[in-house]
Amino acid sequence: MKTYRIGVVGGDGIGPEVTAEAVKVLKRAQDGYRLEFVDYPFGSDHYLRTNEFIPEKAFEEIKTLDAVLLGALGDPRCAPGVVERGIIFTLRFGLDLYVNLRPIRLYTEKLCPIKGKTPKDIDLVVCRENTEDAYSGEARFEKKGSPDEVAIQEAKYSWKGSERIIRYAFETARKRNGKKKVTLVDKANAVRAHDLLRRVFDHVAKDYPEIQKDNAYVDATCMWLVKNPESFDVIVTTNMFGDILTDLGAMIQGGMGIAAGGNINPGKVSVFEPIHGSAPKYKGLKKASPLAAILAAGMLLEHVGEKTSAERIEAAVKKVLESDALPSIDASSGVPTDRVGDMVVANL
Ligand code: IPM
Ligand code: MG
Repeated sequence: MKTYRIGVVGGDGIGPEVTAEAVKVLKRAQDGYRLEFVDYPFGSDHYLRTNEFIPEKAFEEIKTLDAVLLGALGDPRCAPGVVERGIIFTLRFGLDLYVNLRPIRLYTEKLCPIKGKTPKDIDLVVCRENTEDAYSGEARFEKKGSPDEVAIQEAKYSWKGSERIIRYAFETARKRNGKKKVTLVDKANAVRAHDLLRRVFDHVAKDYPEIQKDNAYVDATCMWLVKNPESFDVIVTTNMFGDILTDLGAMIQGGMGIAAGGNINPGKVSVFEPIHGSAPKYKGLKKASPLAAILAAGMLLEHVGEKTSAERIEAAVKKVLESDALPSIDASSGVPTDRVGDMVVANL
């Protein structure tokens, strides 16, 4: 029987508890293949104890896995971003996970904060470039500490780096049962370097004559995501804009408790995670929604090639959301994290 080896990094805060539910659902969704889980202790506790993020040996082992499920990272005992960067960026850059794929799908109307929008209006996917932009360069501080201090952060966009994510976006539009449209979101009217993105986009689009192409500035995109989310199918954008747009996207699909994403290098070990943070104040209280982690686990199965199981997980989540058993997906739902996991299992 085919066996997939899945790394599990629960991480910080609510990460371990939501990840446990995702693993529970994965185990129950297994059908005609086997999943083998490899647990890793990485996160803030581990860092504070050992001063290491992901040791070399573990990183080499991760490279041999089929995929990784990541919970959440971030802890008030560490300076902002230290552990996030030490672990998330090590995985994203170290494994060259150039696609950050973030579907924005409204499963049931009652979750949507926008008046009058229904599931048919909110069904898009963001392909966020995941290895370049202001995320990849070093920061430089000149005359640090003086009144003349200047901080410089370069934002880099390469032709190759842009081409591979834009091509992935067109391939995604081709496969999706959607509007067959790709929108490049940039800020080419102010950021001169974004001219390259436009040229790469036009170049790649020539190979996809059946797909409609569109350009939008990131500020206008924020407006349209609220006003006319139905106008989007696939969005392709830079690392930073993708980061920002997908938090907005999470809200229009019902909140951070439901938004999942994958850090992907097609055909290679890739990392799937809920896009929410570690929410330290809810740690261990069983108040957090595990649905984002569960949907991330579904994306993981799709990535390794188990599309049927992936679809079953998504359908089960949809059923739970449509039922009255789960009044909301925020921490005030009153339904404990593990109970929500059980509901998904019951609907598989
Ligand atoms: C995300 C997060 C990360 C990012 C942080 C934790 C560095 O916000 O995955 O969206 O900016 O990419
Ligand atoms: Mg973010």
